[in-house]
Amino acid sequence: MASKDLTNFTEYQSKDVQLEAFGEEDSKCKELILSLPKEYYGVPNHYFYFFQGFWPKDSDVVVASMPKTGTTWLKALTFAIVNRNRFSSLENHPLLTSNSHELVPSLESNVYVDTISQFPKFDILNMIEPRLFGTHIPFASLAKSIKESNCKIIYICRNPFDTYVSYWNFMNKISLNFDFPTITIEDDFERYCKGICHVGSFWDHVLGYLNESIARPDKVLFMKYEDLKENGNSHVKRIAEFLDCPFTQEEESNGVIENIINLCSFKKMKELEANKFGEFGRKIEKNYLFRKAEVGDWINYLSPSMVEKLSKIIEEKFSGSGLSF
Ligand code: A3P
Repeated sequence: MASKDLTNFTEYQSKDVQLEAFGEEDSKCKELILSLPKEYYGVPNHYFYFFQGFWPKDSDVVVASMPKTGTTWLKALTFAIVNRNRFSSLENHPLLTSNSHELVPSLESNVYVDTISQFPKFDILNMIEPRLFGTHIPFASLAKSIKESNCKIIYICRNPFDTYVSYWNFMNKISLNFDFPTITIEDDFERYCKGICHVGSFWDHVLGYLNESIARPDKVLFMKYEDLKENGNSHVKRIAEFLDCPFTQEEESNGVIENIINLCSFKKMKELEANKFGEFGRKIEKNYLFRKAEVGDWINYLSPSMVEKLSKIIEEKFSGSGLSF
């Protein structure tokens, strides 16, 4: 990892075992990482480290989310919406041959990556504008350059119960591939309730973007996974308007919105070879991104006491925010 890259990280998620791989010239990086606050996240020798900052162009669009809230879907929709004139023929649309994470790189995983990252580095120099990026970085930790530029942010939020269940299932699949012990839902849920999971607590993450979307509606569009599922048409239109590329009457009559919704539907994406096979990060299979996509699946996983506990936290944290789940 080069020191210049480190200065661009907001939150650096590392594996302590990999710190051993740092060479002599990286000793400053290693020193820095070791000086950061860290939290165990349920997998042996793996910790979260907290850090700061990064950059953008005014025309950039950032798809922001907590992990497992519908990032893959929103990336696909946003890509299809902004590129609809470039790829008007659905027969050879890039979303049929690439996973949406390969088309919309993650700032922290594919752009500002270190040499020991699990994810492939993305070449942003040749990206066509508007450039689309994804991030799980909390709003408060985004660099000033992103907050102060005119680039737009679309945030997707999902019911915290379903988000958690999706996250737990996903983490266990990854753990298996690394031969790590199973992460029990009891232990992991306790950590989640304390706000210890990828990119921090659900409530701080959601409230950070929600508050900014209220203060600056031109800058941040706040969406809910459940709304997008229920009424795709009006939300796809909302995204296009927010990105200053509204659908024309002609496009609407020609079914362009419906085509985009179908192209990005769970059923369609899950069955594509591009999403069924291969990895999008080392030992992280693409098919892990497509599980059930159901609203309310948490009922099959969480005990009544877990539901009571998280409901109380959610009620307390979101009281007065206008947001309900
Ligand atoms: P489940 O685990 O509940 O099935 P992310 O993309 O942020 O990692 O979120 C993954 C969740 O979104 C998973 O939820 C996954 O099944 C669901 N998902 C993936 N693609 C989707 C799509 N096209 N439409 C709706 N949900 C989708």
